[in-house]
Amino acid sequence: MGNVHKSWWKEAVIYQIYPRSFKDSNGDGIGDLRGVISKLDYLANLGIDAVWLNPIFTSPNDDNGYDIADYCGIMPEFGTMDDFDELLAGLHQRNIKLILDLVANHSSDEHPWFQESRKSRANPYRDYYHWWPAENGKPAHRESYFDINRDAWMYDEQTNAYYLHYFSRKQPDLNWENPQLRKEIYRIIQFWYDKGVDGFRMDVIPFISKDTQFPPIPDRYKGSFGDFYAKGPNLHAYLREMNEKVLMKYPQTVSIAEGVGVKAEDVYLYINPERKELDMLYHFEGMDVGYIPGGFKELHPDGFSLLEFKQVYTKWDKAFDKGWGTIYLGNHDQPRMLSRWGNDSAEYRDLSAKMLLTFLLTMRATPFIYHGDELGMTNIKFDDIADYRDIESINMHQYLKANGGDLQHFINIQKLTARDNSRTPFQWDDTENAGFTKGTPWIKVNPDYKHTNVVKQEKDKDSVLHYFRNLTALRKTHSTLIYGDYELLDALNEAIYAYRRKDENGEYMVMLNFTSATARVNFVLDVEPQLLITNYGDIDLSEMALRPYQAAVLKLKP
Ligand code: GLC
Ligand code: CA
Repeated sequence: MGNVHKSWWKEAVIYQIYPRSFKDSNGDGIGDLRGVISKLDYLANLGIDAVWLNPIFTSPNDDNGYDIADYCGIMPEFGTMDDFDELLAGLHQRNIKLILDLVANHSSDEHPWFQESRKSRANPYRDYYHWWPAENGKPAHRESYFDINRDAWMYDEQTNAYYLHYFSRKQPDLNWENPQLRKEIYRIIQFWYDKGVDGFRMDVIPFISKDTQFPPIPDRYKGSFGDFYAKGPNLHAYLREMNEKVLMKYPQTVSIAEGVGVKAEDVYLYINPERKELDMLYHFEGMDVGYIPGGFKELHPDGFSLLEFKQVYTKWDKAFDKGWGTIYLGNHDQPRMLSRWGNDSAEYRDLSAKMLLTFLLTMRATPFIYHGDELGMTNIKFDDIADYRDIESINMHQYLKANGGDLQHFINIQKLTARDNSRTPFQWDDTENAGFTKGTPWIKVNPDYKHTNVVKQEKDKDSVLHYFRNLTALRKTHSTLIYGDYELLDALNEAIYAYRRKDENGEYMVMLNFTSATARVNFVLDVEPQLLITNYGDIDLSEMALRPYQAAVLKLKP
């Protein structure tokens, strides 16, 4: 520490755009690349350094682009390759990097590889996927995340065989044990890097290697099969090979693992620079805080424990020491940050949104900000299954229906946890459809858009949006907030998350009240502080008290 090797991606604030929901340019109700192009100045004014775009490639959209039919083609609904080139140039002109999404654990069943593969057992593409001949009986159970039967083996009559799909039936798993397939993936990365793309976020990358004997999953993985999927025999050999064959040829780019199933004690395997695999990883342990273990994404009715939350982020700060960390509180797979970790009531929504953003922008890790969180967008909380668009919610509902599950209970939970909560259209203004589209949006707009929208917040100096801009500027001007050591303070405080950031350039203190009551920290300052930012007018340092959801960043003068 202190002597960390510096890189642009360690200093960057990464802004995630879910293109389907960001801005529609042609009135078909679907966000698109020209929509993003029309908002380039908005992005530049946020003070962000990179954009991560969810998949924009040709896809039948069974899982909104995470089922790819052509890795080097643009989804027609999103635009053309010319639009893409213009977007990339427009971002680069504004000094913003572009990170794309590599979905290489599986393709679409409509990808030509799979179309060929399923034709015959002798087809040259047969081994691009995992097939199990049915005359050998059914292979050991594999759990599927999205299948209506939760079964990851799908029988295909044409060749009397089962194929593997950890996600939906339309997302067959690619066979990384086949060197030919691996070469294809490296070619795809190279294609985009030759265009000038600055990095890839790698979808469920820990799942790529499989024991092709498909033995039964050991009992200890019951209820956490993802942890088993993340432990394939050749995973790290493949990551090293990918690094050697393609990533290291583009040293200015960044690779980010979606660290599903990865434990803190194993993260160094991915991100320790000496191992030459990947640059960063984002973990799920933070997201799991407050979930009832074994339930289907079911939150504990009493909310989450801040003590546990602090322990998790402190543990990961340490684990990331061997490389570099990431931090996020929401994305397209999670409910809205504000509804999940803050308080979306009228009284506290803006305050708690600012408090959570303060956390993200002052930790020793690269922050990922999901679009809309800079405004304090909230969960839509759909009551009716007909309003849901996400295959995860729809298929789980079907599964429960077929198996006598409690559907009302399921909907109640979905209001808090469904992915569609974060996929509603971005709220630009208070005109119809929040200015997202002139047509009918592919998913309903959150009715709170009159309160929460860009135009309104631009005019209000106290808005969440302005506060976010102040935070990105603050992180840029105080390098200790990026590279300085992190130390948890007042660990047993159940209301306040307080920590110190410190290096040779200075010492800072961050204090965050996660509750709707005034709370105190159990320490006093022995040096005179300078208040750098707070979401209230001032802070009561004589009492060391924080108002409801108050956040404060102090610089401690030596
Ligand atoms: C990742 C993506 C998610 C997708 C899944 C399958 O978790 O973030 O959106 O459904 O992988 O590709
Ligand atoms: Ca469109």
